[in-house]
Amino acid sequence: MLLSQTGHLSFLFFIVSVNLIPTTPMQDERPVHAADGPVRALQVKSRKRVFPVRPTMEPDPVLEAYSYCNTPNRTEQAWEGHSPADYKLLSVHVMIRHGDRYPLYSIPKTKRPSIDCTLSASREPPHPLLNRFVNHMSQGTRGHWESPLGSISRLPNHSACEMGELTQTGVVQQLINGQILHHAYKHHGLLPSDWSPRQVWMETTGKSRTLQSGMAFLYGFLPDFNWTKLTVRHQWSTLFCGAACECPARNRYLEEEQRRQYRLRVADANLEKTYVDMARTLGVPTRQLRAANPMDSLLCHLCHGLSFPCVPSGAGGSGGCLTVAQFAVIRQQQLDNEVDRRRVGVYRKYAILAMYPYLNRTANKMERVAKASKAGLRPAAGGEEVFTLSSGHDVTMAPLLSALGLEEAKFPRFAARIVFEMWRSPPTTKVPVKKRGKGERANLKDGEVFIRVLYNGEDVTFHTAFCHPAARHVSQPLCPLRNFLTFIRKDMFSILNATSYKDACFKHFE
Ligand SMILES: *[C@@H]1O[C@H](CO)[C@@H](O)[C@H](O)[C@H]1NC(C)=O
Ligand SMILES: *[C@@H]1O[C@H](CO)[C@@H](O)[C@H](O)[C@H]1NC(C)=O
Ligand SMILES: *[C@@H]1O[C@H](CO)[C@@H](O)[C@H](O)[C@H]1NC(C)=O
Ligand SMILES: *[C@@H]1O[C@H](CO)[C@@H](O)[C@H](O)[C@H]1NC(C)=O
Ligand SMILES: *[C@@H]1O[C@H](CO)[C@@H](O)[C@H](O)[C@H]1NC(C)=O
Repeated sequence: MLLSQTGHLSFLFFIVSVNLIPTTPMQDERPVHAADGPVRALQVKSRKRVFPVRPTMEPDPVLEAYSYCNTPNRTEQAWEGHSPADYKLLSVHVMIRHGDRYPLYSIPKTKRPSIDCTLSASREPPHPLLNRFVNHMSQGTRGHWESPLGSISRLPNHSACEMGELTQTGVVQQLINGQILHHAYKHHGLLPSDWSPRQVWMETTGKSRTLQSGMAFLYGFLPDFNWTKLTVRHQWSTLFCGAACECPARNRYLEEEQRRQYRLRVADANLEKTYVDMARTLGVPTRQLRAANPMDSLLCHLCHGLSFPCVPSGAGGSGGCLTVAQFAVIRQQQLDNEVDRRRVGVYRKYAILAMYPYLNRTANKMERVAKASKAGLRPAAGGEEVFTLSSGHDVTMAPLLSALGLEEAKFPRFAARIVFEMWRSPPTTKVPVKKRGKGERANLKDGEVFIRVLYNGEDVTFHTAFCHPAARHVSQPLCPLRNFLTFIRKDMFSILNATSYKDACFKHFE
């Protein structure tokens, strides 16, 4: 469906024998209770599809949840770096979600899952770069850190994980992400070996798990990078909106979306009954259990092969263990919520306003690099910004997918990645080479500039709102950059009945 070519890039990662029970997605510090995609991939074991083939059966919410853990125990196809022959790679912009983390909430009255967050080559999952990565991070004071990042630990380092702490699984997921792109681009000369500080842009939110995820990714991408050339930028908002975060309409859409979610949830009798049952087992008020977001912790148990928590009877409740069946009910409601969310469409409006500042910044960078790359132009001293890494959260990636029109994409798993690649087609000559004299270079006509968009290694370019298959020309195997620029600067706002970000954010809808 998405790709019919056969890939020749495949990376051998490590078969790790972990006994994992099925798992389910839960979200981070999200303002919107989003969940994974509506249906699971048919071929869970082999290649997972970003847009799953619609199954005729009901999706199994527990099986579907497997993919969310993103257990680094298999080889995955990655389509980054694929282009028609002779196209030149101009720049790459990556947005990642942090890797596997310890829960943000604990389930009342239960023991927290026992996980060690220190990094060790003798613990699973292993990775050949792990020791070198740890060693490299110890020299991190030589890098430049925007405040307050300098005071955040560059490695997870607690033998009993803290809430929200990145685990070794999370580090390995990002080392792998970085390596995948390293291999994908190494023959395309994206960065010279003596890259300049200006050519690499790295930014992260102020959480240790995003900072550490970003560093692990960067290390996989640029092994043993030169610290003195690196500046790590801080984004205080999970929307990466910098100085353009104020947008009253965005907040209104978010509140409307939260009311929709709430209505859907309370209408689900099966869900309500499940929470009552679980609360009775534990001996806590149902309201307290719901507020404690039990899915987040159950998910961690599942991703780490730990059985669900139990409580003895006589501890205030009826006692017993939380069950996979209960887990499946909550998970199913999250899947239903995804479907309802798309149907209603308010989330998309929120997402467009949420991600405009990031997309605008990305579009501006791309345009700058594209201009600077024109044939005959001398590259600017120090080069242009050709590689950007933004390390964020599910509440960053989910709206980004929605804003791009990738509404069917699965909810961002741990260490999910969105990659924008910009390419230039080969120059065309007006004067045949053998007839050309000196000084006739001007007759070289620049190639066109295109972009590709990839989600978790799959090419989703022609699923985006700005490059529908209908707009695809046979002669253009990729999506013209101008489609993207026009979308970001104007067309994106049409569903808000507005022509610009400012217009959409501040006008009154009443
Ligand atoms: C990888 O782990 C998943 C559980 O997350 C499991 O279902 C799958 O069988 C494992 N694959 C391999 C190749 O071990
Ligand atoms: C973890 O790193 C932080 C920041 O570098 C440090 O303050 C803390 O003492 C370390 N903790 C452990 C257990 O090593
Ligand atoms: C790292 O970069 C700095 C600044 O560009 C340079 O002076 C130094 O020689 C580099 N170090 C290595 C090991 O390449
Ligand atoms: C969008 O980019 C333009 C430059 O093309 C800039 O002037 C403007 O401030 C940006 N807007 C936002 C909201 O970031
Ligand atoms: C769009 O906005 C214009 C002017 O603000 C208004 O006249 C028009 O009725 C709006 N259309 C819709 C569909 O809301």
